[in-house]
Amino acid sequence: MLITPTHSLKGEIHIPGDKSISHRSVMFGALAHGITEVTHFLHGADCLSTISCFQKLGITIDTAPGCIRIHGKGLHGLRPPASVLDVGNSGTTMRLMSGILAGQPFSAALNGDASIQKRPMKRIITPLREMGADIAGADGTDCAPLAVKGASLHGIHYMSPVASAQVKSCVLLAGLYADGETSVTEPSLSRNHTELMLASFGAELSSSGTTATIQPDAVLNGQKIDVPGDISSAAYFIAAALLVPDAEVLIHNVGVNPTRDGILRAAKAMNADITRLNEHEVSGEPVCDLLVRSSSLTATTIEGGMIPALIDEIPVLAVMAAYADGTTIIRDAAELKVKESNRIETIVSNLKRMGADAEATDDGMIIRGGRQLHFAEIDPHADHRIAMAFAVAALCAQGGAEICNAECASVSYPKFYEDLISLCS
Ligand code: S3P
Repeated sequence: MLITPTHSLKGEIHIPGDKSISHRSVMFGALAHGITEVTHFLHGADCLSTISCFQKLGITIDTAPGCIRIHGKGLHGLRPPASVLDVGNSGTTMRLMSGILAGQPFSAALNGDASIQKRPMKRIITPLREMGADIAGADGTDCAPLAVKGASLHGIHYMSPVASAQVKSCVLLAGLYADGETSVTEPSLSRNHTELMLASFGAELSSSGTTATIQPDAVLNGQKIDVPGDISSAAYFIAAALLVPDAEVLIHNVGVNPTRDGILRAAKAMNADITRLNEHEVSGEPVCDLLVRSSSLTATTIEGGMIPALIDEIPVLAVMAAYADGTTIIRDAAELKVKESNRIETIVSNLKRMGADAEATDDGMIIRGGRQLHFAEIDPHADHRIAMAFAVAALCAQGGAEICNAECASVSYPKFYEDLISLCS
């Protein structure tokens, strides 16, 4: 898809529901008693994979545009699947479902696309085995397809070597089926949607610092959930409005949970003009509207405990850095290598194609900003966030850019290009 440059970006936008929260609403709704009704559900490919996996596990889910109803059957109501559970491109589905399946009285197999088969599963296999789970990767590897045979689980205290909400959530979900308390401590706090939402369903769950603790055998009850707009999807419009010379964009209903709002903090450090309006709470999550105006961006350093709060926004932050004045350093972000693509490589190689001065490091990248970028063919390596970040880069590049395999954006944002183009004039 050819994205052409623009001088002006104006208007208002309602971005789709949060991907992490949408996944969890299906999973926890399936394990609850009664109906869970979810509005502003994200009908992206990843969340549709979660729906189809739970349908295979015997859960009825009614879907209509923007709204779904999950007919939960309680913690022990899932049924053995007749075929392999296909998670598509979704790491969240694979890792959280493994935790749920570990404690069931049946066996199941999980598989996904070529990207998912390369992503590390040892990070969940290790703690699940410590709990007594019977889980194995393909041919003795730690990669998908995964075979999970139901087993009796013990409560553990797990010191996670990575700040990963997928690992934390996997272990906490397995903890629902354990014989005692389960807790997870992470090196720095990752997104806490599982803790907030599971507690609202009735789980006995507490958090202190970077440790979350869950008691087994909860009785979960169906909820009404209104999913906030996804800050990870809003990030492309934030960046576009900051970079395009004559821009003012109002982004409605954005989830600004402090474990996810690193993009706003990093943008502020880069001299961004962003105003939070109408701050309120939706389904236990903080939400606001964001008014974003064109800004002269300056370089920053992004590192340490900040990384988990903006991990998915690094592709578009790197694009912002390429247009900013000065040298931006991103470090402590080795996790980028094991996302839907090796994002250190895919960001740096595509930035270089557009003429930016960018250098990959072991745990991040260095971007010397301020060059005028130019037309290039962008290969997103089937990674939705790379495709969308470079569509933003194209808006200010001489000649724009051709995003190859642009439709991979539908994993998290099916109408992304339509929405972006609607603001351009
Ligand atoms: C997610 C957690 C993050 C994030 C992913 C969604 C989640 O992954 O990158 O897009 O919903 O729990 P990690 O937990 O691997 O950091």
